[in-house]
Amino acid sequence: HGTMGINERGHLEIGGVDTIDLAHLYGTPLYIYDVALIRERARAFKRMFDKHRVRAQVAYASKAFSTIAIVQLMEQEGLSLDVVSGGELYTALAAGFPVERIHFHGNNKSEEELQMAVEAKIGCIVVDNFYELEMLQQLCRTHKYTMPILLRVTPGIEAHTHDYILTGQEDSKFGFDLHNGQADEALQRALASSHIHVLGIHCHIGSQIFDATGFVLATKKLFEKLAIWRDMHHFTAKVVNLGGGFGIRYTKEDDPLAPEQYVEQIIEEVKRNVASFHLPFPEIWIEPGRSLVGDAGTTIYTIGSRKEVPNVRQYVAVDGGMSDNIRPALYEAKYEAVLANRMHDHCEEVVAIAGKCCESGDMLIWDLPLPKAQPGDYLAVFCTGAYGYAMANNYNRIPRPAVVFVEDGEAQLVVKRETYEDLIRLDLPLKTKVKK
Ligand code: LLP
Repeated sequence: HGTMGINERGHLEIGGVDTIDLAHLYGTPLYIYDVALIRERARAFKRMFDKHRVRAQVAYASKAFSTIAIVQLMEQEGLSLDVVSGGELYTALAAGFPVERIHFHGNNKSEEELQMAVEAKIGCIVVDNFYELEMLQQLCRTHKYTMPILLRVTPGIEAHTHDYILTGQEDSKFGFDLHNGQADEALQRALASSHIHVLGIHCHIGSQIFDATGFVLATKKLFEKLAIWRDMHHFTAKVVNLGGGFGIRYTKEDDPLAPEQYVEQIIEEVKRNVASFHLPFPEIWIEPGRSLVGDAGTTIYTIGSRKEVPNVRQYVAVDGGMSDNIRPALYEAKYEAVLANRMHDHCEEVVAIAGKCCESGDMLIWDLPLPKAQPGDYLAVFCTGAYGYAMANNYNRIPRPAVVFVEDGEAQLVVKRETYEDLIRLDLPLKTKVKK
């Protein structure tokens, strides 16, 4: 998919660049991003809104992969940006992202984080709970600044995905409950505050969702509430934000819609509700993360040791694992992979791809058909662009990989590989002495 191909050397090529050359140049594990594919996804979302003449903001959920370069790429494409922590906000500001298009999420923003957002005068804070609302009011009063906000609500939707990435159900740590009076109370309190400007409402029902039903249901619930808020509180929403969560195809078994098709169904539902409740047409905001960068990312590993468990399986180990991709261990996520340096060879065996961490659960793929892999061969795991590098960690003190962007035959290093020195940079030596 994307700009992937096989070159005359039988190597996997992305963006017109030989991935094996990149592995030699930058080492492995290596994250490679197909920039053209990211641009294409971003434009497809925007085109869908344009086609329906709906005013919109497409905010990249930077938790999926936050670095200076990706933030700058999203800015080039005219997207907005969703950040969920002081660290992601700091990255966005350091990247020079236009502050008015930054939206700040999170269920436990600290006072320091809120202050950062107020001082930077970012476009919008998505307020999650009463504690935050109170803190924000005080901060804005002190700074004599009026902050635009959205109220995040939980619409009570059970989207079908892994439990750990479900977020819209009633029993969730996120947002004001839409049905038990919490959301109404939040609106009243926010409207009563002179330093807060309520732009509208937000919900996010989950992640890696394969059909549009949940989004359509959530849209309906938000508009029913907006009709009530108009009647009871004379409140008109300028913005309705339906979050992210559009699924992508990791393996042949996955059958998601094309990303922009989720949006089309959302738009249709918005139109129906606007008409039936006689509401003014709000701006529609969405927050895709995975569907913008997920399938644009590929990880290249070097193959090392092998272990046979007779009559059970062949373990083939790579030089990374849960330290650069924790998703299989955490969510039983499935991936597909190939030998990037032997693309024309036929598959001869089914192997289990093991990571190098000291943890039995550190397996990347359980049953992968491959040519007979030798030490020194390169494994390319596909669709690692979202929540891969973002969730990378230093377990076993493994340095985090480098990240390269490729486009039109050119490669550019955008995150350097961590060094051993980086690993101990924050460590301090022991001061206490052994007592005699
Ligand atoms: N907006 C909000 C409020 C969110 O909580 C999320 C994701 C998104 C947008 C973006 O969702 P996306 O379009 O990427 O599905 N680490 C997990 C995914 C966690 C998603 C958390 N929230 C994984 O690796 O699958």
